[in-house]
Amino acid sequence: MSQRSGQREDSAGAPAPDAPRALRNPGDRLDRDWPAYFDAVEGNPARDTLLLALDRFDAEGGPRSGLMIDLGAGSGRDTIIALRRGWRVTAVDGSAEGLTRLGAKAADEPDAPLRLLAVEAKFEEMDLSRIAPQGAPLVNASFSLPFCAPEHFEQVWAQIVATLARAAGEGRPARFAGQLFGDRDSWAGIPGRTHHTRAHAERLFRGFALERFEEVEKDGNDAFGNPKHYHVFHVVARLDRAPAHEHTSGGAR
Ligand SMILES: C[S@@+](CC[C@H](N)C(=O)[O-])C[C@H]1O[C@@H](n2cnc3c(N)ncnc32)[C@H](O)[C@@H]1O
Repeated sequence: MSQRSGQREDSAGAPAPDAPRALRNPGDRLDRDWPAYFDAVEGNPARDTLLLALDRFDAEGGPRSGLMIDLGAGSGRDTIIALRRGWRVTAVDGSAEGLTRLGAKAADEPDAPLRLLAVEAKFEEMDLSRIAPQGAPLVNASFSLPFCAPEHFEQVWAQIVATLARAAGEGRPARFAGQLFGDRDSWAGIPGRTHHTRAHAERLFRGFALERFEEVEKDGNDAFGNPKHYHVFHVVARLDRAPAHEHTSGGAR
């Protein structure tokens, strides 16, 4: 599905500002100051994609291991909700500041710190087979994978699929929840970012059952009020058993 409107995109999360006089933390510099982003979106609710995935697990009677890997967890808007709903969470992020903020939030939740593991790591360097050797029934990546360097995306994606595959099977589904950015997004030309055509995004989920695959394209504002053209794929995808053959992303874009 494709949408066009002048509304703000959910990824922004901050109150809709007046038209900005000057660009603040524009897209090509966003990843130099993640704490400013965490400030801008502070207090915003968990992502719809995560909530749908959690609801699906609940409807099935809940996962047996209850481990969610939150990739690019940031200051924890998704992680906190998963903890409240009884999951164990391994939160991975390259920002030490984000994980510190997340830890402070978790400290306010009953027994949540015991179920939270924070791992400071870049996607490009992480090893999910060590972080989650038994796999995980839920890998969540809300608005974070586009910030993975494109030359590393394929191996990162293969790790995500392998992590889900280690947990899936014998009637126990595993799920991916999160966002990918499309090739018509206004940040697509920024070096170091990963964007996908629709065809490529669909290929990534070969072997999955798509519970949500929504393509949204619209004009809006980023978290700082800067104008942005959004082209985003919102995805919740279920893996019922390990793929029969090795899963690859099929190359960039
Ligand atoms: C746009 S924020 C999204 C945060 C949160 N998931 C949300 O939905 O609001 C992107 C997050 O990914 C993290 N990140 C960006 N590039 C990364 C990388 N290469 N490796 C690990 N984390 C990264 C940032 O630190 C930030 O917390």
